[in-house]
Amino acid sequence: MAARAKKTAVPVEKLTQTQAKVELVRLALEIERHNEHYYQEDAPKISDAAYDALRKRSDAIEARFPGLVTSDSPSKKIGAAPSGRFAKVPHAVPMLSLGNAFSDEDVKDFAERVRKFLKIDGDLDFVAEPKIDGLSLSLRYEDGELVRGATRGDGFTGEDVTANVKTISDIPHKLKGKSIPAVCEVRGEVYILGRDFIGFNKLAEKEGIQLAANPRNFAAGSLRQKDPSITASRPLKFFAYAWGEMSAMPAKTQHGMIEWMEKTGFSTNPLTTLCKNTDDLLNFYRKVEQKRSSLGYDIDGVVYKVDRLDWQERLGFVSRNPRWAIAHKFAAEQATTVLNDIEIQVGRTGALTPVAKLAPVTVGGVVVSNATLHNEDYIKAVGNDGEPIRGGVDIRIGDTVVVQRAGDVIPQIVSVVLDKRPKSAKSYKFPTVCPACGSHAVREQDPKTGELDSIRRCTNSLTCPAQAMERLKHFVARGAFDIDGLGDKQIEEFFADGLVSAPADIFTLKKRDARAQRKLAEREGFGDTSVRNLFDAIDARRKIPLQRFIYALGIRHVGEGNAKLLARHYGSVEVFRKAMIAAGKREESEAYQDLNSIEGIGEVVANAIVEFFKEPHSVDAVDALLKEIEVLPAEKVKSNSPIAGKTVVFTGSLEKFTREEAKATAERLGAKASGSVSKKTDYVVAGPGAGSKLADAQKLGVKVLTEDEWLALVGGS
Ligand code: IVH
Repeated sequence: MAARAKKTAVPVEKLTQTQAKVELVRLALEIERHNEHYYQEDAPKISDAAYDALRKRSDAIEARFPGLVTSDSPSKKIGAAPSGRFAKVPHAVPMLSLGNAFSDEDVKDFAERVRKFLKIDGDLDFVAEPKIDGLSLSLRYEDGELVRGATRGDGFTGEDVTANVKTISDIPHKLKGKSIPAVCEVRGEVYILGRDFIGFNKLAEKEGIQLAANPRNFAAGSLRQKDPSITASRPLKFFAYAWGEMSAMPAKTQHGMIEWMEKTGFSTNPLTTLCKNTDDLLNFYRKVEQKRSSLGYDIDGVVYKVDRLDWQERLGFVSRNPRWAIAHKFAAEQATTVLNDIEIQVGRTGALTPVAKLAPVTVGGVVVSNATLHNEDYIKAVGNDGEPIRGGVDIRIGDTVVVQRAGDVIPQIVSVVLDKRPKSAKSYKFPTVCPACGSHAVREQDPKTGELDSIRRCTNSLTCPAQAMERLKHFVARGAFDIDGLGDKQIEEFFADGLVSAPADIFTLKKRDARAQRKLAEREGFGDTSVRNLFDAIDARRKIPLQRFIYALGIRHVGEGNAKLLARHYGSVEVFRKAMIAAGKREESEAYQDLNSIEGIGEVVANAIVEFFKEPHSVDAVDALLKEIEVLPAEKVKSNSPIAGKTVVFTGSLEKFTREEAKATAERLGAKASGSVSKKTDYVVAGPGAGSKLADAQKLGVKVLTEDEWLALVGGS
């Protein structure tokens, strides 16, 4: 629908008043319909980008013909905020996601990583399970009684769907058996059988009600009904496979826990298998892949989990994924379609990314009309090493292409159907200037290898409007300042209006001159209440933890993980700011050395940070921001642990644990693991063969621990 409209659409500048009026009504209806698909049915029919395009066109027409704006225009309904239909539930134990493996090699690497981390030589047991393509649910039982059902939400806060959950027959209201722990949170996947999904759609078609896009969306939509009797009428099912808060553990292994869940009254997946080695895992994968189409429900891969729970505990997590489990995904789903155009998007760090504009096509149940083309070499089909990509077949506008989508990954174009290449197909000339600001866009050369970076970047980080706007979007996004009601769309509008052009502007909006305020209140759909709510949301972020602040700056290569490392190292924003400016003055400075010595911060990252602070404009922006906000000192992970706040260096060949494990333990207990010994080091843990670092420690009078002493200190954790 969106594509048809787009193809024949008259450019906004050329619309007559009458055409504009008709077009606005049509767009309003279409947007409203997609809002319903998205918010009420959990079943989007078009991509976010296609949806944004509809809204943009409607906004542009209204801007040209202000007289045509009506009270029920889509622009009056700001963002159609998330449902708010259900109460929010914080998860005591976050509901995290899994890392992915796509090949046998990835699986072998995973098993090897686990072995290395735990320092074991031989095989170890894994539990292998199908990866159910539904939605995860957490069920809380107190004294054996079901007290709450919550969706995953963002992993930290979900939605309370207790009344709906109670209608699902696979979910016990009371746990069976004796000695049930006082608190049990059982987690698993809500899903629906393919035949039930088809049955529902057939009925829906007959009755003229909205069809569901795929079983997953259908299950999600059914669970999130306001009226539990509707949920009850949908044959939802549930497999238990994990847990959250438990006041006591009924088993010591993953498979033991699954047996316990089965005994207490849950359905668990019958294919679940205890595997002894990597070959067993890969055999399981192939067996399940063969059975996939006859299972009766959708799965998108299999999951492998370390069986021993004490090992799971030791392995812990890296950002949002457990080290002790991985999802081995089935081959991505593909479809062919026509490449209508190529557009360039300019990112926060100036990267020019080519985006394929496709004739919309359904890939694995989702309509795709945009896909990434990665970079200019990818389109040209010659890598920066001179090697051909896709056998040297370039991608031309007008080509029929194969689009692939795997899970949450951005859809991509994997190949060209050469037989279908029309004579009129046009080779693409990648721009050498930034489409947003006209500055030179260049491919940096690696000074060491001489290799050209595959990404072309706009050189004008200072005033390129696209970069500035993307930086602002990043600044307010989740993980950074996370300001409620200030999303991509609002940033785009405020930026276009000149209300906000740098981070500090967000915090001065309120005290800015009356003109800016008036402009804000006059925005379509942005009445006094919205303005007040926005100011409250902004005020709520005037105090921010250091790691979020650092992440929000949007420095290249500084994601949430690195921001955390930096925050823990420097402790306060004053120290961080001063050190970064000092590090930029002279590459050989102590400050630069110190930055480079942080475990986990490599040279590339260190240089990116230094480059950022070398730019007076960046420092000015940081300083302007600091005038408006308070940055809270770095959070210590466990302030009551004996090593909280201490700096530890591991040296020598460690025998009782790996370096990676030791560092992870140190961090978990609030200590900092460093690579070099200085006056600031509190402990040096020395294994056999320790050399210069041990000598440094002795020279500086730093306390030296054996591996056993370290284990005693951290309580064997
Ligand atoms: S274990 C700490 N096991 O996949 C991670 N997840 O990408 C605990 N899923 O959000 C998850 N089947 O919704 C696990 N057998 C299975 C699963 C499974 C499906 C989903 C789940 C999770 C997502 C992770």
